[in-house]
Amino acid sequence: PAPRAEAVLAPEGLPAALPPRRATPRRYAMCRPDHFAVRYAINPWMHPGDPVDRDLAVAQWEALRQTYLDLGHVVEVVPGLPEQPDMVFAANGGVVLGGRALGARFAHVERAAEGPAFAAWLRARGVPVHEPEHVGEGEGDFLVVGDRLLAGTGFRTAPAAHEEAARVLDAEVVPLRLVDPRYYHLDTALAVLADDDVAYVRGAFDPDALATLERLYPHALVVGEQDAGVLGLNAVSDGLHVVLPAAATRMAADLAARGYVPVPVDLSELLKGGGSVKCCTLELRG
Ligand code: ARG
Repeated sequence: PAPRAEAVLAPEGLPAALPPRRATPRRYAMCRPDHFAVRYAINPWMHPGDPVDRDLAVAQWEALRQTYLDLGHVVEVVPGLPEQPDMVFAANGGVVLGGRALGARFAHVERAAEGPAFAAWLRARGVPVHEPEHVGEGEGDFLVVGDRLLAGTGFRTAPAAHEEAARVLDAEVVPLRLVDPRYYHLDTALAVLADDDVAYVRGAFDPDALATLERLYPHALVVGEQDAGVLGLNAVSDGLHVVLPAAATRMAADLAARGYVPVPVDLSELLKGGGSVKCCTLELRG
C-alpha cells in the first residue's frame, strides 16, 4: 500500500540542502470519463479519426482516483454531461482558493457548457463562484504555488482573466506566456511540486516567462522534452507524493532525487484528449 498523506520522507541519503518534503491531505474533484470521446480537435493531441477505448479510459481514471484515496486524500465526483466528452478534464472547471471559486469560461464553443455545469456543482457544495467575464480555463491555466497564482496565456486563458483572478481570489498573479501549441495549458508545461517548488519545460514559455520562472524558482526542476512530450508535467503533488504519467520516467527519477515520492499512473487513453493526471484533477481549497 502507498504511504499515507501524513508521511514525512526522511532526508537520509539526500544532500543536506534539500528540505524535507511533507504531504498535506487534499480534497479533489474529478469527473468520471463515462462520456469521454475525441469528436473534435482543439489541441494537437486530439485526432478525431483515431479509436478511443472508453472502458479503458474509465479503468485508468478509476486507478487514478484509487491512487489519491490510497494516499489519504478525499475525492469528490462531479457528474459528467453526456454531450461534453472533455468534461473528464475537471481541472478546467474553475479555480478554488480560500473557499471561493473563479468559474471557467472556455475558449472553444465545444466546451462552453462545462463552465456553468462545474459552477453549479461547486455552488451546490456551498462554494461561491464568480461567473467570469473573460476567457479562463480554470486550473488548466491557473496554478496555485504557495500564496501565488501562476497564470498561463497564449492559447486559452485571456490576459484580462489574470486580472479578474487576482481580484476575485485576492492573490498575487504572475502571468506566463505559452508559445508551443503542444503545451496549450500552463498545467501541461509546469507542475507544482510544493509551495515553493515547481518543475517546467523551457520550450513551452516565451523569454519573459522564462526569466520570471528563473527569478522566482532558481532551483526548479527543469524537465526535458522526453518527459514533457508525454505530458509528464501534467502531475499532481501533495507536497511529497507526485502522481505523474508513467511514461515520464526521467522526471520520476529526478523527483526522487529531490526528495519526492513519484507515483506513476497510466492514463494513455485520456492522453488522446490532450490531458493527463492534473487535467483530471481540480483541487478544492479551503
Ligand atoms: N481536450 C481538452 C481541451 O483541449 C483537454 C484539456 C486538458 N486539461 C488541462 N487541464 N490541460 O480542452
